Amino acid sequence: MRSPATVPLTLLCCSGILAACSGSDIPPPSVSEYLPGGAASVSVMPFVSFDKVVANLPAEQKPDFYAGRALAAQPWVKAPTATDARDGLGPLFNARSCLACHKKGGRGDIPESADTPLFSGFVRLSIPGSHDTLGVVPEPVYGEQLQGQSISLLSQLNQPGGDDLPAEAQVFIRWETQVFTYPDGQQTELRKPVADIRDLAYGPLHPDTRFSLRLAPPIHGAGLIDQIASADIEALADPQDSDGDGISGRVNLIWNPQTRQTEPGRFGLKANRPDLTTTIAAAFAGDIGISNPLFPAQPCTAVQTACLTSTDGNNEDGVELPQHLLDLVVHYNRNLGVPKRRQQDSEPGRGLFYLSGCAGCHQPSFVTGDSGPAHLSNQTIWPFSDFLLHDMGPELADGRPDYAASGSEWRTAPLWGVGQSDAVNGHGFYLHDGRARSIEEAILWHGGEAAQARTRFAALPPDDRQSLLTYVSSL
Ligand code: HEC
Ligand code: HEC
Repeated sequence: MRSPATVPLTLLCCSGILAACSGSDIPPPSVSEYLPGGAASVSVMPFVSFDKVVANLPAEQKPDFYAGRALAAQPWVKAPTATDARDGLGPLFNARSCLACHKKGGRGDIPESADTPLFSGFVRLSIPGSHDTLGVVPEPVYGEQLQGQSISLLSQLNQPGGDDLPAEAQVFIRWETQVFTYPDGQQTELRKPVADIRDLAYGPLHPDTRFSLRLAPPIHGAGLIDQIASADIEALADPQDSDGDGISGRVNLIWNPQTRQTEPGRFGLKANRPDLTTTIAAAFAGDIGISNPLFPAQPCTAVQTACLTSTDGNNEDGVELPQHLLDLVVHYNRNLGVPKRRQQDSEPGRGLFYLSGCAGCHQPSFVTGDSGPAHLSNQTIWPFSDFLLHDMGPELADGRPDYAASGSEWRTAPLWGVGQSDAVNGHGFYLHDGRARSIEEAILWHGGEAAQARTRFAALPPDDRQSLLTYVSSL
């Protein structure tokens, strides 16, 4: 019986469509691939949520995991309250809890109706210029991010008027569609969200404002990513494309408020956060309006006076979220497991993944270092990302640079668990702004440094394209 990929693969190799003609470009399969999170992989059938505890968390640490989950899942409330552990919401915010956006530890969603405001994502803002410790120059009136909610009752009832502390604006989504035609004539509709910003409550935006629409990505496996040695990521960078493969990964260099120095970034869609703790502290401050030791300010700009003078939920540490509670949420995020790979016959697609050049950015595996907890150390993991920035071309560009990342660069999205999004969240919504409804659409949006890989994918016979998609969704 012929293996489904053999014949077309040979043809494509010889016609130069695929990267190489020799099987030596395909690394031999390894059993560890089926445990993408190493010993921390979780086996849940059917897989219903990305917020499962890693399989090997020592029993005595489980109470902290569940305490951290409670802080990530339960809504924060407006200050003041009798018990002040969970107050301090806002005054401006996007959502009341982490998991309201990272649904079940997975993705946010985009409203299908043009009349429902975006909830589990947001629009980042900036104006031209650079800033050493912020990475961008915030929009002077609205700051770095449009917050669609405020603690004011009127704004929560969605009623404008008579309000000195209104939500900043509402973001609605309009879709623009286009058709991708494969060389064999088959067609696929692609769609792209356009942010339609309404009800700007604090006056006009700066005329040179840059906008970036972002949807909450899945957050599993973050502890393992945190423990990859920086040197292993930097070793993959090839800023001048000296190997001539058309792919030049770059490291983003960003300000770390903990160490107070410039360091490589690896978290966030433009790799603008250095580590898990900083990422989460920034999310508390920017997305929920909860000040904390790393980001002690309220989410108000100098001109938002009612926001600045509103009652805060500070405790004796002078912030709304003291270090020990931040640590619990970080502990929870650190220990979110990665699903085991589903055993299925995805081998033909595996070869096509490598031959198409996907692994040039979606770096299959790393061995974690021992900078963090022992149970996450020295694990062979399979995140399928190099955590570097790549120019993805004009179609994916947001035109909003962030530290060293240009307006068309994005960090390679990890692919572990990518095929489980449908099961967990009931939809795909892939890529930074959720535009792709399927893995196929996500690939077809790849441009810039990834244009060659997309061309190779598109040139495959339909059965082979399907094999590649089956493989990617098995990761
Ligand atoms: C309003 C929706 C929203 C809320 C609330 C929110 N996030 Fe996020 N989260 C996002 C978006 C959007 C991104 C991508 C941001 C970017 O890179 O600009 C993100 C990024 C992240 C990342 C980085 C993922 C990666 O692949 O690097 C982590 C970790 C994370 N959030 C955790 C949290 C935690 C913990 C909380 C609660 C304290 C939280 N988030 C609250 C929307 C949200
Ligand atoms: C030049 C680097 C590069 C190459 C080559 C590349 N990708 Fe990507 N990939 C990225 C980046 C960067 C993103 C995130 C882009 C964004 O969010 O706008 C991404 C996103 C994705 C996503 C969406 C993941 C998610 O969770 O949203 C999928 C699926 C994907 N790539 C599959 C592939 C496949 C399959 C190939 C080979 C045909 C490939 N990629 C080749 C860099 C690359």
